[in-house]
Amino acid sequence: MMAREIVLASRPAGLPAVQNFALAEVRLGALADGAVRVRNRYLSTDPYMRGRMMDGPGYAAPFGLGARIPGRAIGVVAESRAAGFAPGDTVRSMAGWCEAFDAAPGALEKIDTMGIEAHHFIGAAGVPGLSAYAGLTRIARVKAGETVFISAASGAVGGIACQIAKMLGARVIGSAGGPEKAAHLKRIGVDAAIDYKAEEDLPAALGRAAPEGIDVYFDNVGGPHLEAAIAHARPFGRIAVCGMISGYNASAPLPGPRNLVQIVGKSLRIEGFLTANHMDLMPGFAAEMAGWIKAGRIVTRDTFHDGIEEAPAAFISLFTGANFGKPIVRIGP
Ligand SMILES: NC(=O)c1ccc[n+]([C@@H]2O[C@H](COP(=O)([O-])OP(=O)(O)OC[C@H]3O[C@@H](n4cnc5c(N)ncnc54)[C@H](OP(=O)(O)O)[C@@H]3O)[C@@H](O)[C@H]2O)c1
Repeated sequence: MMAREIVLASRPAGLPAVQNFALAEVRLGALADGAVRVRNRYLSTDPYMRGRMMDGPGYAAPFGLGARIPGRAIGVVAESRAAGFAPGDTVRSMAGWCEAFDAAPGALEKIDTMGIEAHHFIGAAGVPGLSAYAGLTRIARVKAGETVFISAASGAVGGIACQIAKMLGARVIGSAGGPEKAAHLKRIGVDAAIDYKAEEDLPAALGRAAPEGIDVYFDNVGGPHLEAAIAHARPFGRIAVCGMISGYNASAPLPGPRNLVQIVGKSLRIEGFLTANHMDLMPGFAAEMAGWIKAGRIVTRDTFHDGIEEAPAAFISLFTGANFGKPIVRIGP
């Protein structure tokens, strides 16, 4: 059979363009003994992929030019010549942006969907959801009654972080770009929503939303949001740095927050984290999230893009803010 895939055609400079990617076709021959053939259903597009498109030192190796973009995907076993996998099984892999692939069993993780839709396992019940959970509970250690500020609050990580922070008993302030996203934040229970694109003075807006200051900042964007959070942090505040997307397309390092000295006087703790180092939480978290989704306690928001050829546009939407929740590439049956 033939399967289409997206390869990296050139390394982006600044905001990625669809021209940085190309559609290719590969032939999958007879399935080898001991292998599994998977048809992908949902492909993940994630901000971290931008860093791996650059050819330089990073926490993960750069993507190869001309090679398929790797990344998380949810698929269904089409054919199996390996013990433990049968046609119809739902699997998660790092196979990336392709319609179908053959793999050794060790490259596949069988998913019990627990009564929720399979795409959630690359969204709310996958790494984005776990990032929110680990950042709030293990890094920021949010306590009931605290005030938590979350940026990119309508996004895949941020939308879940807002709702988990509410479950933890926090007062939540969310920041997102545009009135539609700000209105959505109110619908998912955020106490104060900031449309940062409509604010001339972000620190002032945060000050109005949190007159007594913030105890925790869950950082997804860095830049001016981080500076505003430091300015309004209360003594012994914690800043959990999940990501700094505002700088991912920069060609040179961006200036840091101008008020870093406040870390000393306020005894702040700023701690970055990689969710990959918290995967021990995943099985329990995924089961809990499945329960929350089924009970309507967590509202999920995803943007579906149909067809493998849409993967580059879905990915680019992360940086323009055109995405609303997680951009997921859906591959037809
Ligand atoms: N540490 C980890 O292991 C880990 C794991 C997963 C994700 N992350 C990080 O978590 C963050 C969110 O990821 P996600 O997958 O959930 O993406 P997302 O929030 O669903 O999408 C990215 C959002 O970032 C916002 N954004 C883009 N450029 C911006 C800018 N210059 N200033 C302010 N906001 C900007 C946009 O929202 P608006 O429309 O609101 O501007 C956009 O929708 C990223 O920084 C990512 O790298 C880290």
